[in-house]
Amino acid sequence: MGTPHVAPGQKPLDRQLETERVVEQLAHHRPEGESDPDPVHPVPARLLDAAQCPTPHITSMNQYQAMYRQSLDDPNTFWGNMARELLDWHRPFSSVASGTLQDGDVSWFGDGELNASYNCLDRHALAHPDRVAIIHEADEVGQSQRYTYKELLQEVCRLANLLISFGLRKGNTVAIYMPMVPQAVIAMLACARIGCIHSVVFAGFSADSLAERILDANSAVVITSDEGRRGGRIIPTKRIVDDALKRCPAVKRCIVYAHTKNADIPMNPTRDVWWHQVVSRQRPHCPPVPVNAEDPLFLLYTSGSTGKPKGVVHSTGGYLLGAAATVKYVFDVHDGDVFGCTADVGWITGHTYLVYGPLLLGVATVMFEGVPTYPDATRYWKLIEDHKVTQFYTAPTAIRALRRLGDHWVTQCDLSSLRVIGSVGEPINPEAWNWYNQVVGQGRCAVVDTYWQTETGSNVVTPLPGATSTKPGSATHPFFGIEVAILDPHSGDELVGPDVTGVLAIKRPWPSMARTIAGDHSRYLATYMNPYPGYYFSGDGATRDKDGYIWVRGRVDDVINVSGHRLSTSEIESALILYPSVAEAAVVGAHDEVTGQCICAFVTIKPEIKVDDPSALERELVVQVRKIIGPFASPKIVFLVEDLPKTRSGKIIRRILRKLVANESDSLGDLSTVAEPAIVQSLISMVNARM
Ligand code: PRX
Repeated sequence: MGTPHVAPGQKPLDRQLETERVVEQLAHHRPEGESDPDPVHPVPARLLDAAQCPTPHITSMNQYQAMYRQSLDDPNTFWGNMARELLDWHRPFSSVASGTLQDGDVSWFGDGELNASYNCLDRHALAHPDRVAIIHEADEVGQSQRYTYKELLQEVCRLANLLISFGLRKGNTVAIYMPMVPQAVIAMLACARIGCIHSVVFAGFSADSLAERILDANSAVVITSDEGRRGGRIIPTKRIVDDALKRCPAVKRCIVYAHTKNADIPMNPTRDVWWHQVVSRQRPHCPPVPVNAEDPLFLLYTSGSTGKPKGVVHSTGGYLLGAAATVKYVFDVHDGDVFGCTADVGWITGHTYLVYGPLLLGVATVMFEGVPTYPDATRYWKLIEDHKVTQFYTAPTAIRALRRLGDHWVTQCDLSSLRVIGSVGEPINPEAWNWYNQVVGQGRCAVVDTYWQTETGSNVVTPLPGATSTKPGSATHPFFGIEVAILDPHSGDELVGPDVTGVLAIKRPWPSMARTIAGDHSRYLATYMNPYPGYYFSGDGATRDKDGYIWVRGRVDDVINVSGHRLSTSEIESALILYPSVAEAAVVGAHDEVTGQCICAFVTIKPEIKVDDPSALERELVVQVRKIIGPFASPKIVFLVEDLPKTRSGKIIRRILRKLVANESDSLGDLSTVAEPAIVQSLISMVNARM
């Protein structure tokens, strides 16, 4: 597999095909909500009332526009000042930005030095040692636990010292495969303290996926737990790590945090150590290692158009600045706030808005181990009530699922502490937005629909609580320093003015953008920089409406978004093809009321195989994907088909499959390229019978 490598500046060879694909996808993502003539929501009066809320950092559209203008007109002054205000530097930087998108050599604060864990911990622990840093809400009700900044710093130092004793040094990579417990945060910050690069792998990934990521990143040590807990179920975390490590002989050490304290967990005596036995022996003091602003802080794997996941690399200085600036301005965080982000630490939202952003600003971050419906559907709302959460950040999938269960789960809880409620990960439909605003926010909170990506590091298109009038379903306006462009997918020309739809691109470098893909800078260039030279290509389609609001339409490439989890169709196809009787597989996304999109797989079986029980085989194929990638990648529906629609040269025409699962078989378009049109007819009846 693999992406064709393209030299800088050169257009991909199959640009024409790509363009057709983008145009088709854009036509497919129908604008939702705009038919409603301009349902504009002004900033809630309560937020601007000093008697009820702290004065927002930005209180008007004029103020936003003036700052936005300055961030584009004089980025060095704008970001230089902000970097000095929000971060502490061991060595001050003398230059701010350098490099270009076209050359893919962007650098920010290039000669500055700082340490991420110092910025997240020491400076707050010194000033306010007893301030709460982490509130952990366990899977079981009533078992919440708190860490102050001082306690968190000491735990981070202990683990950092252990990592040093294992021989880890600046620039080494450490894999973290943990449930949602504070030790996951401690592990990330301990790596950062000594200049190691963390590679957190979401603990829903299978052993195969974990092994692939450990090998790709060349991780020397793995940090995990005995087991995880989620919604009353036990997840065999260490067993999955053991399976993965069979393929990773270079991993010499595995640190195991005893979370459920299951005594039957097998330990490899030469490799595995129990966290509680070794960490407590370490001194609670470890000097932070200053690193260059451009040294990598972490890598995080994400799915792209091809099967192999990409290790997106984030810098230290620019990334931390993006995290701190957006937590301050997008979530309007003030001292004493309690930030409740429901994302898992294994995804970028967990990195930026559960760990780094809130801790950089010295507020409390809530870490929730469970699921929103266990033991019942009050869980999120009780959590907000119990911990007096001021900012709540979740995904449209959760909002839609909880909305279906009825308002009474929400209205029985006291949500008066909330000021800002955020949405991320997928387009939010206006119905879900309105429910979130009215029932959860009670019409008194700012709703921030934040658009961004693993690669952007922090929010790039988003409302600001005290300034932006919102439209349900629109991420509204660019954040400071983000120059958004909407491009014509055919010509690559910028579509200026209102009422335009095209591909979403960013026209200049910003501090928290990803710097490369681990071990494959040419793939970084080919994916983001070369498709439209001079622009960062997001992979999303977008509309700028008549009032200048941006509406993100969804992906225009082979990435599908299921419950805010980003998956590549070819990654799922590769998993299916590994099943012995499968000949070919084609995967497409279909609309789903709750999860946004769901996965539909079309599979042909090798001619020599006789299938006695097709339903059983379909179920086995779902298990196959769960096993190879992880449960969150399960196809919702598997069609065993005689054949797939192909061109005469044998290329699968996925466009037709996408139309079929979208219930648009009456508008399949030009079928003259299909080698055997009869196949399409049989697929239509099959899909119509089951969807
Ligand atoms: O398609 C966009 C969608 O999520 C993709 C990025 O996924 P990932 O890297 O996993 O990061 C998710 C959390 C930042 C984007 O390319 N997306 C994210 N936020 C929004 C969104 N689509 C519409 N509206 C959003 N607010």
